[in-house]
Amino acid sequence: MNKLIGAVGNLTADQVRDALLKATAAPSLHNSQPWRFHCTPHAIEVHADRSHAVPVADPEDRELVLACGAALLNLRLAIRAAGVHPDVRMLPTRCSPDLLAVVRPARRGPPTPADVGLAAAIPRRRTNRRPFLPTAVPSSVHNLLRQAAEAERAWLAIPERAQLPKVQALARQAHQAQLADANFVAELRHWTGRDLGTPDGVPVRSSGPRPEPQDEWVLRDFSSGRANSRVAGKDFEPEPLICVLGSFQDGVYAQLQAGMAMQRVLLAATVAGLSSSFLSQVIEIPATRKELRALIGGGLWPQMLLRIGYGSPVPATPRRPLDEVTSCDSANRS
Ligand SMILES: Cc1cc2nc3c(=O)[nH]c(=O)nc-3n(C[C@H](O)[C@H](O)[C@H](O)COP(=O)(O)O)c2cc1C
Repeated sequence: MNKLIGAVGNLTADQVRDALLKATAAPSLHNSQPWRFHCTPHAIEVHADRSHAVPVADPEDRELVLACGAALLNLRLAIRAAGVHPDVRMLPTRCSPDLLAVVRPARRGPPTPADVGLAAAIPRRRTNRRPFLPTAVPSSVHNLLRQAAEAERAWLAIPERAQLPKVQALARQAHQAQLADANFVAELRHWTGRDLGTPDGVPVRSSGPRPEPQDEWVLRDFSSGRANSRVAGKDFEPEPLICVLGSFQDGVYAQLQAGMAMQRVLLAATVAGLSSSFLSQVIEIPATRKELRALIGGGLWPQMLLRIGYGSPVPATPRRPLDEVTSCDSANRS
């Protein structure tokens, strides 16, 4: 427990701690957790922690900002669930590019049941790289997920069935390009296939089965070759819901919004009993990102490719302790 964290605005010290724990439950590329939080008596600041960047896969820190956006949405939802309205200013000053947002827990007001449900889903949301059930996700749920993206001023494009072979081909092309890059492979090995007990990176037990040549979507080996081979008959689902989270611009502001939208989609999926995983290769390689952009109409900047379906439970990944990612003004230490 972090004894240094005190009250912020209308939140008690316990509520601040809970909100910060929920913020750090956000997903991040290779579980790099590239965020820091600073508490003042009136606000919680969200900072990018570039010492936790993943520079080969994400040379422009786009995915780093997406992860911080996801943490920001969790923070907002946790504050709402505590019965307080969060006033958010994104990129408040040009002088500090790492300061991504300032969140002021302002007026009190009862949360909506939807906000409470999304906040409660934060610890249940997990990246699931295992095969999903062969059950298709109904179109009513597609609409719900689209609305979640739109609520955060982004867009969820769901490619038509006829377009999926092209998306698959782009994912495979991007995957091959990355595997041909020794620096990429070294970076992936650094962050993945970890033993339990490290506070970041992806543990072997979260890696899913070892990818096989016939796999259509889950291509990356997150176990550094240490995952068990597939149990016979446990193949990947034939028709996952594949969707592209897109933004209308591609600067840091839009990426931060896209991170919030991505997280709202993932949480809405969790509330609907769905599991999800990320397929980011195709967006990390500029040439395949450009083709994906054209495929979904040319008006959106693809920010994340998601695979969604009905999965079985998977274990949680570790997080850095709150002490390591939080600092406070001396005025608000408890
Ligand atoms: C921007 C971003 C990109 C990611 N890319 C991938 C990916 O390509 N493949 C994958 O399996 N997981 C990917 N992930 C999921 C992370 O590995 C995962 O969030 C992290 O290990 C923490 O685990 P959790 O999501 O279960 O909390 C990505 C997550 C984010 C936010």
